[in-house]
Amino acid sequence: MAIRNIRLEGDEILKKVSKPVDEINEKILTLIEDMFETMYAQNGVGLAAVQVGVLKRVIVIDLGEEDGERYVLINPKIIKTKGSQEVEEGCLSFPNKFAKVIRPKEVVVEALNEKGEKITIKGKDMLAQAIMHEVDHLEGEVFIDKIIEGTLEVITPNNNKD
Ligand code: NI
Repeated sequence: MAIRNIRLEGDEILKKVSKPVDEINEKILTLIEDMFETMYAQNGVGLAAVQVGVLKRVIVIDLGEEDGERYVLINPKIIKTKGSQEVEEGCLSFPNKFAKVIRPKEVVVEALNEKGEKITIKGKDMLAQAIMHEVDHLEGEVFIDKIIEGTLEVITPNNNKD
């Protein structure tokens, strides 16, 4: 396992559409392990492969104590969304920016897991938010383009030192 470099705001790859995974081979399994390690190292709760520079439709999510599950979603497809929620959001590719966005309250997604099994996940609240955020990445979309006007907060490191 290895920590990979996270692609940051301004990197053109973040705007590209990721390609479906056609075979879950060693390379994909290593990618998944590395994505988890990279995400945990940054205290993130979700990561899409494009964020480590790989244009494949692979997502990992772990909300930690929120629900204690570790999700791997390969070639995910949103089947249904329901309701909406206004939520605070950030992204490991925009490490100093936070803002409010509107996300569905509930989502149903179909995908393959790392064993190639077809899975269906019903996510609510924070899980629904995370799934939508990461699936957006696979389409080259980032949260900063859909924030509620006036809610952007930019955190400057060391701004409390003056
Ligand atoms: Ni993100």
